[in-house]
Amino acid sequence: MLTRTLINIEAGRDAGGSRPAENDAFAGEFAHDLMRAFASRPRSISPKYFYDEQGSQLFDRICDLPEYYPTRTEVGILAAKAGEIAAQMGPRAEIVEFGAGSLRKVRLLLDAMDRPARYLPIDISGEHLARSAGALQRDYPGLDVQPVVADYTQRLLLPATLPGAGRRVGFFPGSTIGNFTPAEALHFLQVAGQVLRGGALLLGADLVKDPAVLHAAYNDAQGVTADFNLNLLARANRELGTRFVLEHFAHSAFYNAPLQRIEMHLVSRQRQRIALGGECHEIDEGETLHTENSHKFTVEGLRALAARAGFRPGPVWTDDEKLFSVHWLHAPT
Ligand code: AVI
Repeated sequence: MLTRTLINIEAGRDAGGSRPAENDAFAGEFAHDLMRAFASRPRSISPKYFYDEQGSQLFDRICDLPEYYPTRTEVGILAAKAGEIAAQMGPRAEIVEFGAGSLRKVRLLLDAMDRPARYLPIDISGEHLARSAGALQRDYPGLDVQPVVADYTQRLLLPATLPGAGRRVGFFPGSTIGNFTPAEALHFLQVAGQVLRGGALLLGADLVKDPAVLHAAYNDAQGVTADFNLNLLARANRELGTRFVLEHFAHSAFYNAPLQRIEMHLVSRQRQRIALGGECHEIDEGETLHTENSHKFTVEGLRALAARAGFRPGPVWTDDEKLFSVHWLHAPT
């Protein structure tokens, strides 16, 4: 049976009676990328579109799931090794966090540091950033908190180091580096190397492990990861007025061993026809939209990648089960 799923996209406009997009430029990019995704083979779209308000809330729930080990494992490493990490940072260091991040993680560092000079969280979402920075400032009234609204994957301009400040230390936890393509990961490290010149980067990276553990982490029993994945289409319905029928798509996540990555896809449950921006796309049952890669690393692989971007690898901390790694990387001088 051929089911008709009609999707009308007018970039940045309300085409289906839902609320207008908040950010026209972003909505335009989303509409453009969605149209391109459905027009190309294989069909794929950037995972950055997961993270609207609902998607960010779903991701927070993922972090607390019993199957999703990365967050609690990384927090455990940071808590256990905060003293050693703070010793690497030295006195009066400033932290540059790439992404507004979980306040819980940076607090573990700030609590162990010797008189932190400044905290500079960078995020593309000004609203989210203002909220996180404000909450941190309330709890650390003596700390100089300076949020920077920017896309940290692009060339960055940061305020100059404070007089008398110590080392500038980048913080990129959560294995977000794994969501980049290898080329994007290298580019990010090169950009980070420029803004951290003479300082260091503290980077969290998820490790290669038993595929069954990985499979469970991305196919949780409560279906939160499935909702997170499907939120991409739900978001398009909300912001672009598309009419995706979510029940016509299924969540799929599997480990691609040769490429050392979890792949997430949205699989069409049936043959359907999708009209996007004046074009009609037929999707067969079983065809997919590739929504995310989550690369896993070996300790040596991550160190080699960092070295290619000019970093000198330093100490690495892992948990006892070797699920997750936290790397100290000396930035180029
Ligand atoms: C944000 N990022 C590191 C998560 C990951 O594990 O790749 C996103 C995620 N996707 C599904 N579950 C969590």
